[in-house]
Amino acid sequence: MIPVLSRAEIAEKVKSLAHQISKDYAEAEKELCIIGVLNGVFVFLADLVRELTVDVRIDFVRLASYGSGAVSSGNVRITKGIELDVKDRDVLIVDDIVDSGLTIAFLLEYLKQFHPKSVRVCTFVNKIERRQLEVPIDYVGQVVEEGFLVGYGLDFDQKYRQLSEVYHIRP
Ligand code: IMP
Ligand code: MG
Repeated sequence: MIPVLSRAEIAEKVKSLAHQISKDYAEAEKELCIIGVLNGVFVFLADLVRELTVDVRIDFVRLASYGSGAVSSGNVRITKGIELDVKDRDVLIVDDIVDSGLTIAFLLEYLKQFHPKSVRVCTFVNKIERRQLEVPIDYVGQVVEEGFLVGYGLDFDQKYRQLSEVYHIRP
């Protein structure tokens, strides 16, 4: 496993993202609803929301793509939808990593039926090599070209999520 981000680097990135998000939503007097994408986001989201200086409501979605493994199969479906009322509210989708873009594209489409006022996207890692769909991403912690990352919530076959640093592995 090759170290990619240390604890200190992660903390710095989370702080800077939280600062930017707090600033943007405070200035616009927006009422922020955060929708975290399970499972991978639980570590990043816990750190991020504790650095925010604006009030937030928090909910989660969970998605499944048929087939497991390192490559997204493309067939995304919701296994846990939102329970929070986001009508006329400002929504920020928070994910651990954007890879193909299929998950975010699906969620943007899914959220339309609830008529939010605005929707933005925040991801801890933006991995660009395998992007299949151009999705708008408003807040990014770290851009990565390629490879498979684990730690800080990111898993390989549900393992390594508990690691406090981010590593590159060869599955
Ligand atoms: P998508 O391909 O953008 O739809 O991303 C789908 C999901 O694949 C992400 O939310 C992660 O759960 C997972 N994923 C993609 N790349 C990695 C990685 O490098 N490490 C761990 N999980 C990943
Ligand atoms: Mg994920």
